[in-house]
Order: sequence, then structure tokens, then C-alpha cells
Amino acid sequence: MDPVHLSGLFPPRLLDRLRELAAIDTDRCVQDFADARHRALLADAEVLITGWGCPRLDDLAVTALPRLRTVLHAAGSVRGLIGDAFWDRGLLVSSAAAANALPVAEFTFAAIVFAAKDAFGARERYRATHHHQSPAETAGLGTYGRRVGVIGASRIGRRLLELLRPLDLDLSISDPYLDAGQAAGLGARLLELDELLATCDVITLHAPDLPETRHLLDRRRLALIPDGATFINTARGVLVDEQALTDELASGRINAVLDVTTAEPPLPDSPLYRLPNVFLTPHIAGSLGNELVRMGQTTLEELDRYRTGRPLIHQVRREDLARTA
Ligand SMILES: NC(=O)c1ccc[n+]([C@@H]2O[C@H](COP(=O)([O-])OP(=O)(O)OC[C@H]3O[C@@H](n4cnc5c(N)ncnc54)[C@H](O)[C@@H]3O)[C@@H](O)[C@H]2O)c1
Repeated sequence: MDPVHLSGLFPPRLLDRLRELAAIDTDRCVQDFADARHRALLADAEVLITGWGCPRLDDLAVTALPRLRTVLHAAGSVRGLIGDAFWDRGLLVSSAAAANALPVAEFTFAAIVFAAKDAFGARERYRATHHHQSPAETAGLGTYGRRVGVIGASRIGRRLLELLRPLDLDLSISDPYLDAGQAAGLGARLLELDELLATCDVITLHAPDLPETRHLLDRRRLALIPDGATFINTARGVLVDEQALTDELASGRINAVLDVTTAEPPLPDSPLYRLPNVFLTPHIAGSLGNELVRMGQTTLEELDRYRTGRPLIHQVRREDLARTA
């Protein structure tokens, strides 16, 4: 991984634990499998702990890591990380995506409450007019009975529903892999995507980036979103037709909270930076700062299970990648 992430993932207490669990040189962080300085180390390695900035495990890595049995990824998706040659070797793979899901769900929870109260719009108007809004001017706002639609019963989508359950919201979900009974178990009503878009006041996207989810929200579907509704995207920019979304936002018809965009950052002239009805953040919903430690902790727990012959809790199988992030 990029060594800048090491101290966040593994603060001293966890580094000590790592040294207890494995024969490891915690001062060495490999970023290039062709680097001759690491050849002997890699030739012996049975477990690889990876993170953001790890080069792809491709044919070169297969040659460099002949004894590798397990990859423990101290970050989210392993989609871009593990090449076919490694999957073919039957490698055991685990990821800390479940730990990374928690802060995204928390961020989205906050965005939903702010959207329901039009806090983003109120801030803009307050700055411009200094007008102190009275409760009489807030008809139609608020969280009570607010219709919230979640797209994707993913790790993040499920955690979000858990956080939202104590509120007086009206929750719906859309996911082609979910049935009505499972949705009810999550505290939500199962809807087809078009119906969810047409009937919710706040819509939040948590589906994975797959070939079939590219532009899942195309121009036709974005037009279904009711006037005044808020669209939240903490998933991936490519799931949305960004030009169509920008057109809807520029018309002022809907609002958006966007933590992800197609290009990150968006091009300098993108209206997304300037539109008053867009709350744009630089991909911060996932683990940052002190939240990284959860992913390090998860990785060490997996390492301990591997070491003692117990099944991994967060194993990723090659076939899972057809429907997961
Ligand atoms: N903003 C951030 O910092 C951040 C951090 C972590 C993850 N993410 C993104 O959040 C999204 C969710 O991540 P995750 O780890 O919870 O995903 P996940 O891998 O748990 O999601 C898999 C589930 O998504 C559902 N799904 C699959 N296809 C779908 C479709 N067409 N429509 C609706 N649902 C579908 C299925 O239930 C599947 O089991 C991903 O796009 C991921 O890249 C963003």
C-alpha cells in the first residue's frame, strides 16, 4: 500500500498486535512488486496485507509471490486489485469493506436529515438574506413521515437502514436481488427502481459499480424524481448520467448531495462546484482520519483467524464480484 496510510490503519497499539500475530517487518511497505530490494521478502510471503495504493496483483506479482496464500485488504473493494492469475491460484481473499461501510452510512444518515429539513438550502438563503426563517415558513419540510428511497441493499444500504429505523421515516428500497420479505426485514418496502424514484422525497444511491449499473440513473429515470426532492450519491459517479443530472440540477428542479462524481475531481468548469442546490464533497463519506483504524482492526482479526485455521468472516469470492462493489 501507499505507506502514507500505514499509521492511520495501524496506530502503535495495532502495530504491536500485528507483530504478535505474524513474522513481519512493519518498517517495510512494498509498492512495486518488481523492486529488487523486496525480492527475498516477497518470495517468502504467505500473507499480503494490502491497502489503498497497492499495485494490481497481476502476472508480475504472481511471479514475485510464489508462496502467497492469502490477501487481506485493509480497504474496500478488491475488484481492481486481484487479477485473474491470482484468482486461478485459489487465493484466499478478505476485505475490510464492511468496516468501510459504517462511515458511509453515517454520512448518508446526516445528509438525509439535512435534506429533509432543507438545511443546505436554508444555509444558502440565510447567508444571502439574513432572514430568520419562522416555523410557519417551513410547510412540507422535516423528517416526520418523509419518504426516503434507498437504492441497493448493499453493506452500506443495509447499515443505513439500521441507522434510519428509529426515525419516523417512510422507507423504501430497490434492489434486483432482494424480495419483499427480505426488504420488510430491513424495515423498508420493496419498490421497482422507477417507482422508488417517482415517489420518494430523498433518494440515496448505494449500488455497486458493475457493467449493468453504469448510468443506472439515466436521463429518463432522473426525470422521474419529484420536484424539490434530493438525490444523494455516495456510491460511484458512473452510476449516474452526470450530464443529465447536471441539467436537472441547473434547472433548480431537484437538489443533490454528491460525494462522488464521474471524474474526481470534476473538471474545473463543472457547474457542480457552483450550483446552490448541490452539496459537493471530495469523496469523504468512506473511512477518513480516525475511521481508518476500523479497517486495520478488521484486517488483524482476519489475520488472527487465518493464523489459527478459522474461517475468515469477510472472505471475498471471485463469483461475488458479479454483484458486489
Ligand atoms: N463514498 C465513499 O467513500 C465510498 C466508500 C465505500 C463504498 N462506496 C461505494 O458505495 C457503494 C456500495 O458499496 P458496498 O460495499 O455497500 O456494496 P456491496 O458490495 O455490499 O453491494 C452489493 C449489493 O448491491 C446490490 N445490488 C447489486 N446490483 C444492484 C442494482 N442494479 N441495483 C440495486 N442494488 C444492486 C445487491 O444487493 C448486492 O448484494 C459502491 O458503489 C461502493 O463503491 C463509496
